[in-house]
Amino acid sequence: MRIQNFYFYMFLSLFGLVSSDEDYFQSRACCTFKGPHFEDMEYTRIISLNKIAVLEYNHTRGSWIGFTPYTIELAKFWNLNPFGTREAKALCLNNLGYIQILSNVTYIPTIRVKSVKQYSGGHPAMLVCSAFNFYPKQIRMTWLRNQKEVTTGVSYSEVMPDGDWYYQIHSYLEYTPTHGEKITCVVEHLSISEPILAIWGEFYFAMQIIHK
Ligand SMILES: *[C@@H]1O[C@H](CO)[C@@H](O)[C@H](O)[C@H]1NC(C)=O
Ligand SMILES: *[C@@H]1O[C@H](CO)[C@@H](O)[C@H](O)[C@H]1NC(C)=O
Repeated sequence: MRIQNFYFYMFLSLFGLVSSDEDYFQSRACCTFKGPHFEDMEYTRIISLNKIAVLEYNHTRGSWIGFTPYTIELAKFWNLNPFGTREAKALCLNNLGYIQILSNVTYIPTIRVKSVKQYSGGHPAMLVCSAFNFYPKQIRMTWLRNQKEVTTGVSYSEVMPDGDWYYQIHSYLEYTPTHGEKITCVVEHLSISEPILAIWGEFYFAMQIIHK
């Protein structure tokens, strides 16, 4: 934090010549982690004056870039003294533990199967299987008809944010009902070791969930 403050004050003091009480400064640091074990880290810093970016540091690139005649000169000066590794370590690596904990968070989807359209006059029936409140986003939904995977008449919505961090998705099955068949919506997700089976049957007209 001390390094950050040092640069911030240095920046403020260098800008002191041109600033007034009305001016608005912002220094925004960002740590991005990628890879299965978050081993690829990128640290960036953007300094803005009155909401316009004037200077940018990118740890991957390893240098400052200025966007105004004044900050272009300033960037040349700051680039003489590379500071990124120390600051990236102080700001990013020290927070990696929290990110690893968050990455382990999962929420089990709530599954619901409903009829959208009844079979009538030769027009197919339609069911919707919905998964709500799950995290993370990756999910797999399939339909079984008498234990066999259905490949036609199946469509999906996008995976949509629910707000509050969770996601939802809807899968539609268009089919012609036959007597005594069993239709199952199968949901696989990181939060559960076994798939969730939501069964819709001709004789139920309701739904049963088997959570093995
Ligand atoms: C930082 O620089 C690298 C290499 O030039 C580039 O690939 C990356 O997109 C940059 N990151 C940002 C946030 O601009
Ligand atoms: C995250 O989960 C993995 C595998 O279950 C475990 O090895 C690791 O210790 C967990 N990490 C944290 C920070 O909880």
